[in-house]
Amino acid sequence: MVDVYEWRGKFTNAEIEALHAEAFDHQPQGSDWQTRLDKHSLGWVCVRRSGQLVGFVNVAWDGSTHAFILDTMVAGPLRRHGVGTRLVAVAVRETKAAGCEWFHVDFDDDLPRFYLDSCGFRSTKAGLMRLTDR
Ligand SMILES: CC(C)(COP(=O)(O)OP(=O)(O)OC[C@H]1O[C@@H](n2cnc3c(N)ncnc32)[C@H](O)[C@@H]1OP(=O)(O)O)[C@@H](O)C(=O)NCCC(=O)NCCS
Repeated sequence: MVDVYEWRGKFTNAEIEALHAEAFDHQPQGSDWQTRLDKHSLGWVCVRRSGQLVGFVNVAWDGSTHAFILDTMVAGPLRRHGVGTRLVAVAVRETKAAGCEWFHVDFDDDLPRFYLDSCGFRSTKAGLMRLTDR
């Protein structure tokens, strides 16, 4: 099966919503991904298999040398076959090509093997603060 990885690939809001809802276990929320990404992202990577969106990662940035990985996601049945690692590798390549010097990610306790061992990030101290009540 040939997967197509595309930097700043085309997508519909409904496609991203469906993938995000499955990956992060929530109901679709009707977000306007297209407008948000166009406005705030350095880029994103879409992965398609037989035309269907099966993977996505968003690269937000500070407009200069720092970029941030958000919303890394792969469709459930395709996980643990290297799609996520290749997805992030395309994001790394394109972010570097855009002139960024630093690439950041934060993640839950279950994913150090993915981000550190597989994708090549190094562990560092970081902080995170929730600014809203649940
Ligand atoms: C995280 C995610 C993107 C990984 O995608 P993937 O295509 O399954 O990743 P890969 O197949 O490239 O994984 C490579 C290695 O990373 C590690 N890894 C990947 N997913 C893992 C998991 N859920 N738990 C523990 N280790 C994991 C494994 O070592 C894996 O190698 P192995 O399968 O030979 O053991 C995918 O599980 C996903 O979409 N999860 C739901 C959304 C999410 O939590 N995103 C992360 C937000 S920070």
